[in-house]
Amino acid sequence: MKIAVIGTGYVGLVTGVALAEIGHTVTCIDVDPEKIAELNQGIPTIYEPGLGEMMLRNQKRRRLHFTDQHRVGLDGADVVYLAVGTPQLADGSANLRYIEQAALDVAEYAQESVIVVIKSTVPVGTNMRIKQLMLSHVRPGIAIRIASNPEFLREGSAIHDTFHGDRIIIGTEDHETADVLEEINAPFGIPVVRTDVSSSEMIKYASNAFLATKISFINEIANLCEKLGADVEEVAKGMGLDHRIGSAFLKAGIGYGGSCFPKDTNALVQLAGNHHHDFNLLKSVIEVNNHQQQLLIEKMLTRFGSLHGKKVAVLGLAFKPNTDDLRESPALVLIPKLAELGAEVVCYDPIAANQGSKWISAPAVYTKSVSKALNGADCAMIVTDWPDIKRMDPQTFVRLLHEPIVFDGRNCYTISAARKAGIEYYSIGRPDVIPEVSK
Ligand code: UDX
Repeated sequence: MKIAVIGTGYVGLVTGVALAEIGHTVTCIDVDPEKIAELNQGIPTIYEPGLGEMMLRNQKRRRLHFTDQHRVGLDGADVVYLAVGTPQLADGSANLRYIEQAALDVAEYAQESVIVVIKSTVPVGTNMRIKQLMLSHVRPGIAIRIASNPEFLREGSAIHDTFHGDRIIIGTEDHETADVLEEINAPFGIPVVRTDVSSSEMIKYASNAFLATKISFINEIANLCEKLGADVEEVAKGMGLDHRIGSAFLKAGIGYGGSCFPKDTNALVQLAGNHHHDFNLLKSVIEVNNHQQQLLIEKMLTRFGSLHGKKVAVLGLAFKPNTDDLRESPALVLIPKLAELGAEVVCYDPIAANQGSKWISAPAVYTKSVSKALNGADCAMIVTDWPDIKRMDPQTFVRLLHEPIVFDGRNCYTISAARKAGIEYYSIGRPDVIPEVSK
């Protein structure tokens, strides 16, 4: 099976590399010649554990190729995956410009009948519209078959998720196309769910919206726990053991970020609105998340009164650990806010530190050294639960901070560890820890 993948962003690159790993011949196409040049030198353009080795291995086997020429990449392809971005427009809806352009490229260069698989997250109905668009541009006699095959990859574990996913969703108009897609994916050994195109598109949005809802739900419970003296970690543990609820995505914190949840929840609200359906539940999920991102600032203002002239060590920039991705990270909200309130900000991130000044215009210093960030600061604010931060002895705060005051947005330490270390500790949905001396 000869496969082409259009788009070498997160989804496209992981998909292309994984399909080559299971034995297919894959050409990945991107309009960015610099990206293609790097990829051709075996340099992965995104940070993703395990991706680099797998990519190189398949390039050496000559099963994986990269090109910026659509004509070359699409030549003789039986199946073309579209994995270009669908970024958010100002009104919250998905921008389909890139996917439409990719579809037009396929229509222009397709020499024979082709199956077009849409991996990108697209509003329900898009696959069929894309098919119509291609049919009106393709040369006569060439058949276009369409398939919706959404991805469920988490950044930081995308390779693992590709090979150990819970399900592969294949939405098609006919059995023959589903058969081809099932055959392509068979080596993954993951259960396949066959469905219609619209349901497949909806499965992706509904899954992300449901996970976002779980997070906002536990965050609301956390906020209530703070008022009532309960501990959200205990509550989540007790809830999660009920198999109908499940323990995943019940970690309270300062809200979800990343390239998917914020964008996809907004797009689903927008899509519902377009069909005269007021998706109130999801609107509240988004509202809760927006407020949750501000929580640590509120806690700091309550503690200090003013942040003017305070030196704050921000630990973590990425929207979650094991990625250098800052998209929709709570750090993008928190750092400008700290600067606006007159604080002096020093940010630590083991991987994403270099990206800080590119994404955030507010004055701040970025470092890959946690001790440099903490040294002499008036308090620390934990934004990302990086493993090295979680593993760090809380005594480090006592040693390095001007005063050992920690605002933890990810509940990295147990209450007893914080007490033992003698730090003043404010976390999410748990009792504050105030050492005797600071009372
Ligand atoms: C998500 C989906 O998990 C994936 O299936 C989809 O394809 C893309 O979107 P990703 O954005 O990589 O993946 O991150 P994920 O690990 O799901 O976390 C999203 C955000 O939620 C992070 O900011 C994380 O910190 C937050 N989160 C997650 C919580 O606050 N609590 C949790 O219990 C879980």
